[in-house]
Amino acid sequence: MDTRKTHASHSINRAEFLGRSAAFLTAASLAQHCRSSYTTARQPGFAGNDPLENARSAGFGDRPILMALNAGITAPNPHNTQAWKFRVLSPGAALLFVDETRILPVTDPTTRQIHIGQGCLLALVEIAASRLGYRARIDLFPGGTYRPERDLGRRPVARITLNPDSTVSPDPLFGSISRRHTVRASYSGPLIMASEFLQLQRLIRPEISRLDAIRTPDEISRHISLHMAGFEREVLTRRTAEESRIWFRIGTQEIFTRRDGISLRDNGVQGFERWMLESFFLSKEPEAFHDRENTLRFLKRYRADLETARGILHFVTPGNQPADWVRCGKDYARFQLAATQLGLVSRPMSQLLQEYEEMRDLAQDFESLTGVSAPAKVQMVALLGRGEVEHYSPRRSLETMLE
Ligand SMILES: Cc1cc2nc3c(=O)[nH]c(=O)nc-3n(C[C@H](O)[C@H](O)[C@H](O)COP(=O)(O)O)c2cc1C
Repeated sequence: MDTRKTHASHSINRAEFLGRSAAFLTAASLAQHCRSSYTTARQPGFAGNDPLENARSAGFGDRPILMALNAGITAPNPHNTQAWKFRVLSPGAALLFVDETRILPVTDPTTRQIHIGQGCLLALVEIAASRLGYRARIDLFPGGTYRPERDLGRRPVARITLNPDSTVSPDPLFGSISRRHTVRASYSGPLIMASEFLQLQRLIRPEISRLDAIRTPDEISRHISLHMAGFEREVLTRRTAEESRIWFRIGTQEIFTRRDGISLRDNGVQGFERWMLESFFLSKEPEAFHDRENTLRFLKRYRADLETARGILHFVTPGNQPADWVRCGKDYARFQLAATQLGLVSRPMSQLLQEYEEMRDLAQDFESLTGVSAPAKVQMVALLGRGEVEHYSPRRSLETMLE
């Protein structure tokens, strides 16, 4: 779904390029000075990546629900649209709603992925609450029957109640929250071992998902080539690729002032190459963004990265209803934290799981390959490996999400 492009049409001549490059060094120091007006950390404020410290520096220390929610909003979520809204009921309780203005109607027509993102947030809230000495009680769909097509943004997905509990032990995954992020660069190192998949299973303690591991090189490459076909289908279909263009952010200022969406940096492009692309080549102009020649160049690079996957994990649920989506989201967020704890990196691939017409045939091929079909559903696919890219996609401030 996250069809991030790392290119656009070539529009400058050599003299102009050299002129601008020469300015690069001075521009960098100037940018350093300018950036003081906004932070390039994951969360606004100047307390680094620790979401609880960040919450304290924002003055939330006396409201444990806001402390825990501030950790929650660092969760993985589709296209980083951050489709979360909160109604605070007391210093220890709140309702979670989908922010219906931040959904992905084209690539996620059922809002299944948006609801998985709700579950991701709830898992981090539970973990942060345990760190604060609270046991989080999560009641799903407290308003009764919940139908996304009718209730999105109007009826709550969950009621979160924090109960002080001196017997609660801090969840060991808390330590990974400030380091967890999705890494979409090329992976390295050996294949993921059976013992590592076992450790992951133990740390995740899945609530609903069956975890299917894809481990052998043959299996991995068979799956990767189908995932690549799904990705190409999405990127080369104008209306689905358009959804990525809308959420694409270019350059430090836009990325860290809008503080949502997707960017080039998420793809592990860094330093001078990233500056070059962002300054001279990347454009959100539809024709430039969807330029075919450059899209094919981008796909070539994307395939090269994808083929470095060292293992794959499927999150399979017995049903395919909103409660399955939210609960699977909790398992997926715990997975990424567990992977971080084990020194592994990961990225999801959602294209083959998506429910729009243009993907139907490939989605069926994936069901045949995995042997998983209705009512069961592969809700998430995660590629695993080793390697690191020091970039944390930003988040808006919690205050902007409070009703
Ligand atoms: C339900 C769901 C589906 C996602 N699908 C994809 C995907 O297909 N490709 C991808 O690169 N990232 C995918 N992501 C990862 C998000 O883009 C990522 O979590 C978000 O941009 C925030 O970045 P972070 O995880 O590094 O904090 C997905 C995340 C969720 C929760």
